[in-house]
Amino acid sequence: MIWFPLKIPSWIRWPSPSTTRHVFYGVLIGFSLSLTSTSFTLYIQSRRRRQRRFAAKFEQRPIELRSDEIVSGVTGLIGNTPLVRINSLSDALGVEILGKAEFLNPGGSVKDRVALRMIDDAERLGLLRPYTGSRIFEGTVGSTGISIATIARARGYDCTIIMPDDVAEEKVKALKALGADVERVRPASIVDKKQYVNLARQRAAKFGRLDSTDKSSPNSKKKRPNIIESNSASVLVTTTASRVEFDMEDPHSKDEYLSKPRGYFADQFENRSNYEAHYNGTGPEIWRQTNGRLDAFVSGAGTGGTIAGIGQYIKSKNENVVIVLSDPEGSGLYNKVKHGVMFDRKETEGTKRRHQVDTVVEGIGINRLTNNIDLALPIIDDAFRITDAEAVSMSRYLVKNDGLFLGSSSACNLVACVKLVRRMGWAEGQKVVTILCDSGSRHYSKPLLPRFTLMSALRNDEYLRKAHIPMDPQIVEDLLLPLPPLEPL
Ligand SMILES: Cc1ncc(COP(=O)(O)O)c(C=O)c1O
Repeated sequence: MIWFPLKIPSWIRWPSPSTTRHVFYGVLIGFSLSLTSTSFTLYIQSRRRRQRRFAAKFEQRPIELRSDEIVSGVTGLIGNTPLVRINSLSDALGVEILGKAEFLNPGGSVKDRVALRMIDDAERLGLLRPYTGSRIFEGTVGSTGISIATIARARGYDCTIIMPDDVAEEKVKALKALGADVERVRPASIVDKKQYVNLARQRAAKFGRLDSTDKSSPNSKKKRPNIIESNSASVLVTTTASRVEFDMEDPHSKDEYLSKPRGYFADQFENRSNYEAHYNGTGPEIWRQTNGRLDAFVSGAGTGGTIAGIGQYIKSKNENVVIVLSDPEGSGLYNKVKHGVMFDRKETEGTKRRHQVDTVVEGIGINRLTNNIDLALPIIDDAFRITDAEAVSMSRYLVKNDGLFLGSSSACNLVACVKLVRRMGWAEGQKVVTILCDSGSRHYSKPLLPRFTLMSALRNDEYLRKAHIPMDPQIVEDLLLPLPPLEPL
């Protein structure tokens, strides 16, 4: 290796120590300033980013509807309801309890679907024609009446709703506001001619009664309705036309026949359109919304249309999904499912306070078999009897924990969901879907007639106290308590 002697040129001179010190301090200050300003800039940038992220979290979402998503009239708003996760119950149980938010339908309940389907089917079959002065008759505890009244207005019909006089006053007010004729009658058994469903049928028959006397029996002075044959034996259609058939050759006769007002008794209990509304609508919606991944479906039954239609559709897709009935006190369906006989203990006790079903729960529970119940029975796997105290407790628990103010049948359904999850020992995210039929706002009026006041009492503390029904969310909290560990074998 060759070493060259390092020779510093004579013109380079080391600066004096004081100059070196000044240069050193200059560089140090410059470096510190640049470091500080870089850190400051980075800090401001990250702070802005954080602020932007925070703001985005609470920013109003942009409108997500497609530009062509304009529905046609009030009937376009029916169905396609969301599935809502009931957070309190799902978190406590370790499963997904999902409610189909039917209270968001324009008429406020699941019954909008049924009313629309019954009217659509009647129009399709030529039984009803809009703007002919025709009138729809129905016997209902209220929800179906509100749905029929809403759609009747939009489609050019009048309607008469016959209902028991012990249902919540809010329903009567809503019906009258929608222009329905409302007839309130004493609750009575189905074998009684004055029972509200039987009366609705009689009113529809009377609507089509002609002034001429019955020609078929010369001695009779009775006036007979002109009946048009319908799709179901129970759906009664009458006409004020003088003949029920028209002469194809004679346009005048045809015109007279078609333009005369009709009376239509919809009969949701027996009408198959009720079942079809759920088999073709609600069932497929639930299937799509869960991507076909659900473990159980829970529902009460009033006419049976909801549990029959949705249950049959789900079973047609996957037989392993468990279909469960939630049945209130006083209804005979629980025993029909569990033991094959339609029976409720309260019926024999002599303590029965109401004619149809003895409970604070409105809209579900029945003590007779109907076409729609018949369609449901083969696919129901299990049933739970829900007490009034449990339904009241659930309704209050949901308000307290989820801000959900639901009707009594929804509360019943959710108690049954909890009981099912406990019975099955599920805690690993299994999916249970139920129906949130209507909102609690239809149930809190003070009943007008104290002697028939069990229905509509869900939010009526004074009534519940008198009936010795506890109003205690703790009942549900106890159902949700973690299960004790299993004893070793
Ligand atoms: C509030 C409410 N929930 C549930 C139901 C039961 O539905 P379904 O008649 O389909 O059995 C009804 C029926 O009238 C109702 O009014």
